[in-house]
Formats: sequence, structure tokens, C-alpha cells
Amino acid sequence: MGAVLEIRELCVSVEETEILRGVNLTVEQGEIHALMGPNGSGKSTLAYALMGHPGYEVTGGEVFFKGVDILELAPDERSRMGLFLAFQYPVAIPGVTVANFLRTAINSRRKVENPEDGGIPIAEFRKLLKEKMASLEMSEKVAGRYLNDGFSGGEKKRAEILQLATLEPEIAVLDETDSGLDIDALKIVAGGVNKLIGPKLGVLVITHYQRVLRYIQPEHVHVMFEGRIVESGGADMARQLEEQGYDWVRDAHTGQ
Ligand SMILES: Nc1ncnc2c1ncn2[C@@H]1O[C@H](COP(=O)(O)OP(=O)(O)O)[C@@H](O)[C@H]1O
Ligand SMILES: [Mg+2]
Repeated sequence: MGAVLEIRELCVSVEETEILRGVNLTVEQGEIHALMGPNGSGKSTLAYALMGHPGYEVTGGEVFFKGVDILELAPDERSRMGLFLAFQYPVAIPGVTVANFLRTAINSRRKVENPEDGGIPIAEFRKLLKEKMASLEMSEKVAGRYLNDGFSGGEKKRAEILQLATLEPEIAVLDETDSGLDIDALKIVAGGVNKLIGPKLGVLVITHYQRVLRYIQPEHVHVMFEGRIVESGGADMARQLEEQGYDWVRDAHTGQ
């Protein structure tokens, strides 16, 4: 069996308010899951808690990745283990170029697998970067710019998928990777994710809109509402949500 991300009865509070109220979800390497739900249902809170954001207090439950309880680990340790998180609002890192950021991240990930690893040879890294940037239709100039500094919305999303493509995580959580993209940028970003999809990658696509799911097709769809996953189904559930919206979810689960 491949790497597994297992979320059990996860409860998370933000500023003393309980937002997640017992989330259960398992994503395995090779599987594509979508997490949908109305605005404010707690989708991003789940992503931040998985990352280990200090503002999101875990008050109950467990999260295992590759059998390790990651709630005790720092964000960078989680990432080095092969858990990748892309955010709705990526932060800028002035002073660190895209290329340097990626090379450092690749090297620290290699070190976890082999402490003796001397890092990716520079020629190999350049080739990898060139290849991956071309596949995302990114200008090579972007490699020399500071990460996300002054990037347009579309450039930020592409930069995230570039990280995903070069770091080769086992499980990736993509929070609203589709938001703010026009249809052409969406196709490129979704196409970039699709190229990576296969037995080595498990993906949790978090989205409010069904739109992105026309391009990235999940086998499993979950609906979050008021801090819990209240419905789970197959690809047809995404279509049902597109046709009927979230009203039926609200009617069935409000105040539970
Ligand atoms: N940093 C924060 N401070 C205060 N409230 C927050 C914060 N983050 C999330 N919340 C609240 O938690 C709830 C869930 O938000 P969020 O996880 O962003 O939902 P979604 O991503 O599904 O739209 C909302 O009611 C939101 O106002
Ligand atoms: Mg959100």
C-alpha cells in the first residue's frame, strides 16, 4: 500500500471558536478526492490545520501521514515527509527566488529519504526546472523572480503547481487552486495537475465551485458543511452539486 493521509475525528478551533467538529477523511496515494462545500463550511480551516498553521488549534482527533501522527510535527517537517499543501492565498517570499526556493525544498526532501544525500546536481536541477516550467507554459524568467512577489493570481497558481511537479509529494492538498483563474489559466493549471496524477500521487482538491472538476476528475467527492463531512460519494455527486447547488445539503444537515 502507498502513503496514506488519515484524518480522524479532527476538531479545530480558531480564536476559541470551534470550526471543525469531527472531520474523518482518508486519502491514499494514487486517489483523487474533491472536498466541496459552501463558503465558511471549514474547508480552508482543514487545509491550514493539516499544514500546522499556529492560528488553528487542534482540540481533538488525529492526523496520520505514513503512519506518523503529524500533529506533533512542524510545517516544514510535514512537507519534507511528502505532504504538499497549496493555499488559496499563497504568500510572497521576497529575497528568495523561485529557483532557489525549489532547489532548497528538493534538497531537504532528498535528505529525509537519505541523510547522506549531497543534493540535486545543479545541471540536473536546471533541466528539471526547465522541463516542468515548459509543461506549465511558464516563462523561464519566472525562475529568477522572488517567489510570489508581485505575481499575478495566475502566476501564483502556476508557481504552486510547479512546486508540486518538482517536489513529487505523495499526497497533495490543493485549496481553491482554481479561484481567480480565467478559463485559459485554469486549463493550464488543471492540465499541470493532471500530468502528475497517477499511482504515485494522491490529491485532495478543495473547491467551492464544480468548475475545476471538469478538468481534474475526482473518484471521490466529499461535502463539508458546518465543520463536518456530511456527504461522500462518487464523481456524480459533483454533478449533482453543480445542478442543485448546496441547498439540499443545508436542508438535510443544518444544526446537526
Ligand atoms: N483566521 C480566522 N479567524 C477567524 N475566523 C476564521 C478564521 N479562519 C476561518 N474562520 C472562520 O471559520 C469558518 C470556516 O472558514 P473557512 O475554513 O475559511 O471556510 P471555507 O474555506 O469552507 O470557505 C468561517 O466561519 C470563518 O469565518
Ligand atoms: Mg476556503
